[in-house]
Amino acid sequence: MNILVVSSSGRTKGNSDLLCDELIRGAKEKGNIVSKVSLHQLNIHPCKGCDYCQEHDGCIQDDDMKDLSKVIQNTDVLVMATPVYFYNLSSSLKLLIDRTYAFYKKKHFKKTILIATSADPSPEAMKTTISGYESYLSCLDGVENLGMILAAGVEKMGDVLGHSAFKQAYELGKSLQ
Ligand SMILES: Cc1cc2nc3c(=O)[nH]c(=O)nc-3n(C[C@H](O)[C@H](O)[C@H](O)COP(=O)(O)O)c2cc1C
Repeated sequence: MNILVVSSSGRTKGNSDLLCDELIRGAKEKGNIVSKVSLHQLNIHPCKGCDYCQEHDGCIQDDDMKDLSKVIQNTDVLVMATPVYFYNLSSSLKLLIDRTYAFYKKKHFKKTILIATSADPSPEAMKTTISGYESYLSCLDGVENLGMILAAGVEKMGDVLGHSAFKQAYELGKSLQ
């Protein structure tokens, strides 16, 4: 399968980014074709809500979403990774989601995975983030949620290495074929 992993933390090798890499390790072992993008390295502007994309092919804005949307449209699995920020999705992931308005009624990925990390150890800490992810999927036709890798109670860089989610990420990656 083709898999696109979108890492939305500004911290390279931060907790959610490390979970991305573990999932990728497992997925590659099974022969999947995996690519990863770090949103903080890209230039992606907020959706203008102009509806240009509803009548044309693509977005009126000329930024890194131009190439990325093609990859998102054609990938089999979209993995979305986010740190929990103020009990919600990171703004960069939300921004990417909004920009998929350009094609959400057209061809797009059919499977997704959520990766989320929070400092708060309570499962409640993830509630709004999960709900944001699920609400997005509810707007898309025929998209299957393959799973959620949730690491609550990880704050500092590398905390996730001792969390059960670390192994889960690898296992979920390995299950993709
Ligand atoms: C701007 C900001 C907001 C945050 N808000 C929350 C929060 O609401 N709840 C929480 O549990 N952790 C919060 N955190 C902590 C991060 O979610 C946590 O450290 C996470 O492991 C970071 O993942 P990363 O290493 O992939 O960036 C926040 C961190 C930042 C920088």
